[in-house]
Amino acid sequence: MKRILICGANGLLGQRLSLMLSTQTDYEVLNTSIERSFVFDNMLFDYNQLDITNRSDVKSLASSFQPNVIFNAAGATNVDWCESNREETWKVNVTAVENLTDAARKVGAKLIHVSTDYVFDGKNGPYNEEVQPHPIGYYGRTKLASENAIRTAGIPNVILRTIVLYGSGIGVKANFALWVINNLKSGKQINVVDDQIGNPTYVGDVALAMIKSFELNREGIFHIGGGEQLSRYDFAIQAAKVFDLDASLIKRIKTSDLNQASPRPMVSGFITLKAETQLGMRFLNTAEGLTLLKHELQHIGRN
Ligand SMILES: NC(=O)c1ccc[n+]([C@@H]2O[C@H](COP(=O)([O-])OP(=O)(O)OC[C@H]3O[C@@H](n4cnc5c(N)ncnc54)[C@H](OP(=O)(O)O)[C@@H]3O)[C@@H](O)[C@H]2O)c1
Repeated sequence: MKRILICGANGLLGQRLSLMLSTQTDYEVLNTSIERSFVFDNMLFDYNQLDITNRSDVKSLASSFQPNVIFNAAGATNVDWCESNREETWKVNVTAVENLTDAARKVGAKLIHVSTDYVFDGKNGPYNEEVQPHPIGYYGRTKLASENAIRTAGIPNVILRTIVLYGSGIGVKANFALWVINNLKSGKQINVVDDQIGNPTYVGDVALAMIKSFELNREGIFHIGGGEQLSRYDFAIQAAKVFDLDASLIKRIKTSDLNQASPRPMVSGFITLKAETQLGMRFLNTAEGLTLLKHELQHIGRN
């Protein structure tokens, strides 16, 4: 039986990965995250607390569990926070990934890691995997450094870059879709930029791509993005439509109106042909992903 170690299992992507793997019988899965307990019932899921910045803890957990693959869904993900908390961001997004590459080398495991469109400058997206990265903010710089650490580590690896991840999870930070939906549900007006373009990605698609890239024994970089290129404003309008909420509460603004701490790639987005052909996937478009999200929120009744 293959052994899978999930890092960052309490996050949006980590939870989804864990749930999707929980129904498979061919794997022994060990979930880990920085918190003392797992968001799901520990009776059903094996869970260990693991701070991946702690080199010796990573090393000893890997040598006792002997994973065949490490799925890294952990990271410092708040882009503006990262800009002003550089030391902590580097530790989680780069040093911790080096800890994982060292552990993977030691036990002969593959590392499957998640990166971002923020490795690009957003001048001329959508991007394929051949384009030279050029990050414009600190978060993107650390994610590119993590990619480079993995690519030069001499271990089997996959790097999945994704963009504007959305979905539901227990106690997850409000991703863009949830922020839009929650505000509109409580009748609040929101200001949404119409000059940031990308293809928002349903979390289940990234989790499935991680699993498939392991099962199909793939290597290298893959771009994972939703089946539609659109602005944040148009995405919010679609969310209002799918959730039957008042779209007139959504006000169109420009990124320059926001004074965000970190610069954003403006014309971004991913060309996903490589993942479609090599992983055999079709990525959900916005209406499909938001409809799934609606069903999930109806069932769990919270985010
Ligand atoms: N969200 C997006 O739009 C987006 C877009 C492109 C790529 N990505 C990438 O996708 C991946 C997953 O993102 P996500 O949205 O699922 O993020 P998330 O919900 O913030 O999950 C990340 C998880 O990692 C945990 N973590 C932080 N530091 C850790 C450490 N030292 N050891 C172990 N766990 C730690 C976090 O715990 P705490 O919450 O307690 O800190 C959190 O549970 C990340 O690599 C991110 O860079 C995200």
